[in-house]
Amino acid sequence: MTKLLITGGAGFIGANFVHYTLAHHPEYEVSVVDKLTYAGNSANLETVLDKVQFITGDICDKELMDRLISDTDIVVHFAAESHNDNSLRDPWPFIQSNIIGTYTILEAVRAHNKRLHHISTDEVFGDLELDDPNKFNEHTAYDPSSPYSASKASSDHLVRAWIRSFGIKATISNCSNNYGPYQHIEKFIPRQITNILSDIKPKLYGTGEQVRDWIHVDDHNSAVHLILDKGQLGETYIIGADNDHVNNKSVIEMICELMGKPADWYEHVNDRPGHDMRYAMDSSKLRHELGWQPRYTDQNGMRDGLLATIAWYTDNQDWWMGDKAETETNYAKRGQ
Ligand code: NAD
Ligand code: TYD
Repeated sequence: MTKLLITGGAGFIGANFVHYTLAHHPEYEVSVVDKLTYAGNSANLETVLDKVQFITGDICDKELMDRLISDTDIVVHFAAESHNDNSLRDPWPFIQSNIIGTYTILEAVRAHNKRLHHISTDEVFGDLELDDPNKFNEHTAYDPSSPYSASKASSDHLVRAWIRSFGIKATISNCSNNYGPYQHIEKFIPRQITNILSDIKPKLYGTGEQVRDWIHVDDHNSAVHLILDKGQLGETYIIGADNDHVNNKSVIEMICELMGKPADWYEHVNDRPGHDMRYAMDSSKLRHELGWQPRYTDQNGMRDGLLATIAWYTDNQDWWMGDKAETETNYAKRGQ
């Protein structure tokens, strides 16, 4: 069996990756290291704890990471502070976990000659104008806007430097905005779904013209597995499901409609400072070289993915209810 160490495996994408791996890749023996910050939840792995080794720990802990990585074959690195709005309030945890944490992992990977896959985001490229027909690809220059995206860009640069200077066996993927089960309710889509379930009107930042290239988390994770299986060492792969035509306003309207509310049952709130306008991903390299195909693609696919996500939050109210009041109080302080 190949040993897989998943950092951040108690968070949104990491937990989905653990479940996806256990369901589709029996060749892996899975361990998870996670600090269990406000965004990490061991309940996300409750049903599989007999199949996974779970270690509560910080990726910035040099000795811990050295020990765990010496005893694994592959590291898939998801752990990060991940919310833009939080990074505008307090950038420090982003610098610490996303930059120092990645550096700590890189040094252990280098010392023990292990394979690394680094998970990153489209936000490292900055944004596109609304009328710009171009998409981000593997050659787009880095131009991050927020402390979050700048810290992720820094982590990508570190991985690239360790590949080039030290020859570590690593790949990188930059993916667009994910949605699906287990996503913290501070994020756009689950916030609106749980608002409606709590009889609160959904909240749209500014005019809502901004466009995100939404991808279902299982499509992200199928791409990561393909990169682990067939990806070329040293390479970067863009992951996106071609959903770059739906703006935030349309997403809120779609959620309202799918949940039985009038399409305009939402309110406008303060915009985010420095708000990126549009993200769009060109994933041709992944599709052509590795044969990846997303399941939830185009507007119909997004409706199916949203319906499944709405069903999950409706069926799992105990999972999010405890965080709802505090999350909304924090947003209300900023007029959001
Ligand atoms: P998340 O915030 O839901 O989960 C992050 C997890 O990392 C949590 O379980 C948290 O406890 C853990 N963590 C944070 N700091 C840690 C530390 N110092 N040591 C150990 N564990 C720590 O985030 P997510 O949305 O699942 O994102 C996972 C990764 O995917 C991140 O690297 C993010 O940049 C990237 N990404 C996210 C998206 C998205 O739309 N959510 C899109 C593209 C890329
Ligand atoms: P978010 O989920 O925070 O992801 P990111 O900042 O990584 O794109 O936000 C997605 C989009 O939704 C972004 O344009 C900001 C917007 N947004 C709202 O309109 N209302 C909200 O309540 C939130 C949380 C986000």
